[in-house]
Amino acid sequence: MYVPLTSVPLPSEIEKLKSSLPEFEVSAYRFARRTKRSLKFVDVLGEELPPHLVATLPNAMDFVGDVAVIEIPPELEAYKQTVGEAVLKIHKRVRLVLAKSSAVEGVYRLREFETIAGVGRPETIHKEYGCMYHVDLAKVYFSPRLSREHDRVASQIKDGETVVDMFASVGPFSILIAKRHKNVQVHAVDVNPIAVSYLKKNIEANHVGKNIVPLSGDIRQVVEERLAGVADRVIMNLPEKAKEYMDTASKALKPEGGTMHYYEFTGMPKPLKTAKIRLVEAVKQTGRNVKRVSYVGLVRATAPYTFQVVVDAEIQ
Ligand SMILES: C[S@@+](CC[C@H](N)C(=O)[O-])C[C@H]1O[C@@H](n2cnc3c(N)ncnc32)[C@H](O)[C@@H]1O
Repeated sequence: MYVPLTSVPLPSEIEKLKSSLPEFEVSAYRFARRTKRSLKFVDVLGEELPPHLVATLPNAMDFVGDVAVIEIPPELEAYKQTVGEAVLKIHKRVRLVLAKSSAVEGVYRLREFETIAGVGRPETIHKEYGCMYHVDLAKVYFSPRLSREHDRVASQIKDGETVVDMFASVGPFSILIAKRHKNVQVHAVDVNPIAVSYLKKNIEANHVGKNIVPLSGDIRQVVEERLAGVADRVIMNLPEKAKEYMDTASKALKPEGGTMHYYEFTGMPKPLKTAKIRLVEAVKQTGRNVKRVSYVGLVRATAPYTFQVVVDAEIQ
């Protein structure tokens, strides 16, 4: 592995690198120029589309296992199959190309898709941070855009903790946490029974059955019946509604308190400040207090000027 340096290090810096990273060596290396560049939409479609439409081709798409998910702008509606075939040509490991045909909606947070190229069902196996997830994009929520957030939260877990993943879906927070931390107990809850059946399949596929309990049902009822006062940490990844579940999160935490990862969608201006204030007020209304906000960050942009924001807070 080569790690590029941004400038030629001073002798003192080389000494420092040698002592802190003894297995690395600092050297100058001239790499051969890459002649074969990967294909782009314009290479494949430049001749097939009218020139004014080439500029409207999407710049990005999501890959979930061997399924590509793309947003087709209205101008390209008549050419969507052509665009889908181009995706298959460019990305050899893609089997199926889906176009988004609705927003993420409903209690289960599902989106409608239209198949524009390829074969088979939208069921696939996605790999993320060494874990594998069976998912069916038509039946469960899954977004590869949350992978860094899964990793960020999983890396904060301490030995011996009990975690309640309140809106777990197929388990990307819960499974990564359980895989990395053997001495941790995770309760993973979702109201979508199909998501929970995939969660169970994923628990098995990742060999983490010892420290995750999958639970199907409304989190309010599940906490009431079996998870009140058990958690050192709660993960509230239902950004459009998390605030409404603050009382439940508060109830799930141990009486002495714990850590909350709170998510919401927030617009401009000042999305970070707004989310932080909303969290502090919502916690207060449950009869608890925020002792410290340890982190506020943008998880991803979800629409122009709208973001998914996370607030990590220690609750008393
Ligand atoms: C945004 S998705 C969660 C995604 C997942 N945590 C991840 O990181 O990929 C929200 C999930 O909450 C579930 N959900 C919605 N309302 C719920 C409730 N009242 N109780 C439990 N789960 C709920 C949905 O079925 C959906 O799977």
